[in-house]
Amino acid sequence: MEQPILETKALRFCYDDGEEPSPVVLDGVDLQIEEGSFVAVLGHNGSGKSTLAKHLNAILLPSGGQVYVAGMDTADEDKLLEIRRTVGMVFQNPDNQIVANVVEEDVAFAPENLGVPSEEIRRRVDEALKAVGMYEYREHAPHLLSGGQKQRVAIAGVIAMQPRCIVLDEPTAMLDPIGRAEVLKTIKTLNRTSKVTVVLITHHMDEAAQADRLVVMSKGKVIADGVPKEVFCQVEELKAVGLTVPETTELLWELRQAGVDVPLDALSDEECARTLYNLLRKGRST
Ligand SMILES: Nc1ncnc2c1ncn2[C@@H]1O[C@H](COP(=O)(O)OP(=O)(O)O)[C@@H](O)[C@H]1O
Ligand SMILES: [Mg+2]
Repeated sequence: MEQPILETKALRFCYDDGEEPSPVVLDGVDLQIEEGSFVAVLGHNGSGKSTLAKHLNAILLPSGGQVYVAGMDTADEDKLLEIRRTVGMVFQNPDNQIVANVVEEDVAFAPENLGVPSEEIRRRVDEALKAVGMYEYREHAPHLLSGGQKQRVAIAGVIAMQPRCIVLDEPTAMLDPIGRAEVLKTIKTLNRTSKVTVVLITHHMDEAAQADRLVVMSKGKVIADGVPKEVFCQVEELKAVGLTVPETTELLWELRQAGVDVPLDALSDEECARTLYNLLRKGRST
């Protein structure tokens, strides 16, 4: 790998309130994230996902170890602005991220603060709104939009800063299924067409399954890391840390438990259906 866009080295963190000894929330996290990749981070509540996310653009600084953004140590105060320009963050609640009364003003807010010239801002705002499919809503009031639309406006606001990487912390958690699908499609397009590195924190298996790489966290540690197909095959390990697996994997796993010889790695509905079809055909011909 060339220089990774994000790297954590033996990252350790505790929320130290200065009084009682506080528990370790991140416990030796070593991750290298390749520029242009789409990485999903999965883990049950309290496993440290949000804490990790906040280390990726210096909202939090390590208690031990290092975090590098495009080679810049997040503990280096002189680099803070450039780190924040490199990694954009999107959070769970779109209402907390919208600051203006008109969609396009909202998207312009961050680049304005960065001192981008106004013609350039105009161009970036239009481009960002088109990228998330919200251009026709540019003159609308954000508070009248659906959750999915608001979240896409929030993503446009981040895109307008032209970051190399976007970290999204459960961006679909508060959305209905339609909003979730809109947001996920937007994220995937951004990664595929604009080559923006995406780190998507989620507790939805189906979203995680669409990433290039899946990192699973439990109790502040990375317990699995690989392409989703491989990671989801580790059914027992995932269940042991309180996670479920996609329905397709679950079905094949149950069949295997019952002694049927099927592969576990048919993750998409189509692959799973084909696997079952082949199984039934084989059964008939013997
Ligand atoms: N601001 C905070 N102060 C103290 N403890 C916190 C704070 N935020 C999170 N924690 C604790 O850190 C652990 C990890 O939390 P978090 O990173 O939010 O996990 P996740 O996003 O995976 O649910 C939890 O035990 C949580 O209670
Ligand atoms: Mg969280």
